[in-house]
Amino acid sequence: MELSHHEDVSPGTGALPPRAWYAASDAAALSLNGHWRFRLSPTADAEDDSFAADGYDPDASDAEGAWGEIAVPGHWVLQGHGAPQYTNQLYPFPLDPPRVPTENPTGDHLRLFDLPADWPRDGAAVLRFDGVESCARVWLNGTELGDFKGSRLPHEFAVGELLRPEGNVLAVRVHQWSAGSYLEDQDQWWLPGIFRDVTLLHRPEGCVGDFFVHAAYDHRTGTGTLRVDIPEADVQGRVVVPELGIDVATGEEVTVTVEPWTAETPRLYDATLATPGERIPLRVGFRTVAVEDGLIKVNGRPILFRGVNRHEFHPRRGRALDLETMRADVLLMKRHNINAVRTSHYPPHPAFLDLCDEFGLWVVDECDLETHGFQAVGWRGNPVDDDRWTPALLDRAARMVERDKNHASVIVWSLGNECGTGRGLTAMAEWIRARDGSRLLHYEGDASCEDTDVYSRMYADHAEVERIGRGEDEGPKERRRLPFILCEYAHAMGNGPGGLSEYQRLFETYDRLQGGFVWEWIDHGIAHPTYEYAYGGDFGEELHDGNFVCDGLVFPDRTPSPGLVEYKKVVEPVRIEGDGRAGTVTVTNLHDFAGLSHLAFTWSYEKDGTTVADGVLTVPQVGPGERTEVKLPPPPPRDPDAETQWTVRASLAEDTAWAPKGHVVAWAQLPVEYGMVLPVPGGAAPVRDAAGRRITLGAADFDARTGSLLAFHGREVRELRLDVWRAPTDNDNGMPWRPEPSVASLWRTHGLHRMRHRVDSVETTGEGLTVRTRVAPAASDLALRTEYHWTSDGGKLLLRMSVTPEGDWPVPLPRLGIRFGLPGAAGRVRWFGGGPGEAYPDTAAASLIGVWESDVDAMQTPYVRPQENGARPAVRWAEVGGLRVESDGAPAFTVRRWTTEQLDAARHRTDLTPGDTVWVNLDIARHGIGTQSCGPGVLPQYELRATPRPSSFSCVFSRVDG
Ligand code: GAL
Repeated sequence: MELSHHEDVSPGTGALPPRAWYAASDAAALSLNGHWRFRLSPTADAEDDSFAADGYDPDASDAEGAWGEIAVPGHWVLQGHGAPQYTNQLYPFPLDPPRVPTENPTGDHLRLFDLPADWPRDGAAVLRFDGVESCARVWLNGTELGDFKGSRLPHEFAVGELLRPEGNVLAVRVHQWSAGSYLEDQDQWWLPGIFRDVTLLHRPEGCVGDFFVHAAYDHRTGTGTLRVDIPEADVQGRVVVPELGIDVATGEEVTVTVEPWTAETPRLYDATLATPGERIPLRVGFRTVAVEDGLIKVNGRPILFRGVNRHEFHPRRGRALDLETMRADVLLMKRHNINAVRTSHYPPHPAFLDLCDEFGLWVVDECDLETHGFQAVGWRGNPVDDDRWTPALLDRAARMVERDKNHASVIVWSLGNECGTGRGLTAMAEWIRARDGSRLLHYEGDASCEDTDVYSRMYADHAEVERIGRGEDEGPKERRRLPFILCEYAHAMGNGPGGLSEYQRLFETYDRLQGGFVWEWIDHGIAHPTYEYAYGGDFGEELHDGNFVCDGLVFPDRTPSPGLVEYKKVVEPVRIEGDGRAGTVTVTNLHDFAGLSHLAFTWSYEKDGTTVADGVLTVPQVGPGERTEVKLPPPPPRDPDAETQWTVRASLAEDTAWAPKGHVVAWAQLPVEYGMVLPVPGGAAPVRDAAGRRITLGAADFDARTGSLLAFHGREVRELRLDVWRAPTDNDNGMPWRPEPSVASLWRTHGLHRMRHRVDSVETTGEGLTVRTRVAPAASDLALRTEYHWTSDGGKLLLRMSVTPEGDWPVPLPRLGIRFGLPGAAGRVRWFGGGPGEAYPDTAAASLIGVWESDVDAMQTPYVRPQENGARPAVRWAEVGGLRVESDGAPAFTVRRWTTEQLDAARHRTDLTPGDTVWVNLDIARHGIGTQSCGPGVLPQYELRATPRPSSFSCVFSRVDG
């Protein structure tokens, strides 16, 4: 049976050979972006190609009213036609390559256009599509130009002789599913459509064909060598770099002294490539990439990736990104100390790479290739191991390399993601090496590493990464010689990722570990009228992977999540350490190339969280990898009652392209005096009311039967008691496909979400009130014996609580502390402790000790799927709703206008309705976060083991205004 073009394994027909991309030249160009006519059919077999005929008028021929409008670039499923679908590994259609379902949404696109009056009459023209998912067939003025697959790759067609001054009809039929879909099983929404630019490019006589800029740097001589190659058969030209005095013919090599390009110092030289018919502005960065002595080196120095995996995503426009959004990503990355991007899992819009060149980011450019869903059938039929598909694979490799080969930022080519192994991958690797020997090759999915220059893994745990760092890993001998990167780690799904600092310590300890790329940059939540942001399943998909698509360091609207703030701190390129009491500071320059001259150092001295003195810290210049010691000024006079600390910051000394002067790059806090002395109010005697229902202790009223605190200074207090439950995070819930139970499911099995509080005694003594309870879930003999001892001086109220576990607890506790409700307390919150954002035991690197002010609503972290969030750590005191609570136990402090149970039950943030009561948690201890949503769980030092550890906790309540 002959298959139609969309089910054919071939990459397509009719397109021109791929060539280098450039943003602009002096040749005329006409953007065809804008409003196109559009009609959607449910299947691909529509015989009706008449819309592609010359002179077709959609309005005249549209008896059924099928033709609407659509914005190009765009995805029709985000513009009211059909719906998006989300799957991670599984194909949303039966595996029968290259066949696809009959139900194959097919979008007919029509663009009518005139040429501008000044469009040149001579020469040729090409029509360029920068990205169409997943298969397109193209006609111009009734003539078929061809068809193509390879969604995130460019395709050009020669159209010169078909163009006319007016009334051109460009018709494009796009199928959602094609043979190409089998090669595009990336973990993301399936979003069909013409989602990148469509451009008509004039190709004058004597124009530039393809060109390859070779710009190497020799760190021994400080020289750069430039040669721009144009294929022999094409028109040759000249290359001019005015700043370097270079004026050479194409193909001619020239060596001059230059400043090299690096991600830290992205020095670009403006140049022009001119042939008789065209001038193309170039930006040339000189740099050399190699593996030497088992290390990835650029310009002779090893580098450390502080990277992220970036999918292209916008909550309303899907993968149709505009330049401003791309720029926003780059600026946000630079401002958060990120120095590298893996373009997971396809070449991005080419303009993004221009930005990486300009602002300085190392790029691992990954091919548009993933066949992960074949794993579900034991990799049977995997296209990358089937010669029939090899032309399609080679076409994809060539389209990526040819398009992106002139970017200084691209230092690694990646064959694709999660395709298993096969001959097709080897063929791609061989082709790429032959075409471009100047970059490294990456592919994670082949343990043999035979085709690659780096040993790359995803989600390896800390212990294994350490073994690899020491060179103690098993595996082929060849592989043990390779440098190591984590192409994915630290799954940023929901609250987290935990354990970043521990990874970074390993990267900085072992030379072989050259860093990694956090998974991933942005949550792919789709803006939704009901849910705020939709995730898998919200569009009724029969197969989906839920909110696994929301696993980014920035929220869908690109607001940084606490995970990004943490990452910025963990990967800061300057480490500031020291001894606050001795007044000494060590500054380590962790850049790979840059000195410290772009940074200004300052100090401040804080008393009880408030700055009382500050100044400039003079730090000698030290090169990359070096450190220096400096002395802080003499501290202000000692105040024995105050907590004191230094804060040292390194900020940009001048405006840069990516952040203004004063932007903080690195910081540290160095404690001087810490040791909070909790007041111990006492003296007030408890008094029972006549009816024996109430006990009054100073300003506090208790229920005489249950011992519960009912009111304090006349303000109602609800259900103050031990709390161990948290709304499980995505990391608590673990990886859906792993057979072993997640920590959250163990918590539920053991009933930690349904603990009951049995009151054993309520005793008054001359000193106060003692309440003894046993807190335990049904059907279990595990328990937490909990005692509450209350004393008061009349105005203040002291709670001393002790918790003694009974039985051998086989699971860690989510949290250990108290929870209580304050009716009508919404509003302003102040605290002295860690802030400004949330922090958990293994995500606390970025927490700054200070006095912070916020309000209850602003203290909620808007994870797309609601879960535990918002805790501020190491709190000395906090004020909310007229109540002040102080503790010497540095508890974590959480406030919210719903209960943990409501938070746990919510699927979307819109399910949470704020109530009148603010629920406050004060935790003495908390279980860490980890990254078990995809990767290792909580490290042992961050687990909250219930046994064998009796715990105690004290805090003092008092009344404040508010
Ligand atoms: C990896 C994969 C990514 C993503 C991630 C989990 O296995 O390469 O595309 O699925 O896991 O979010």
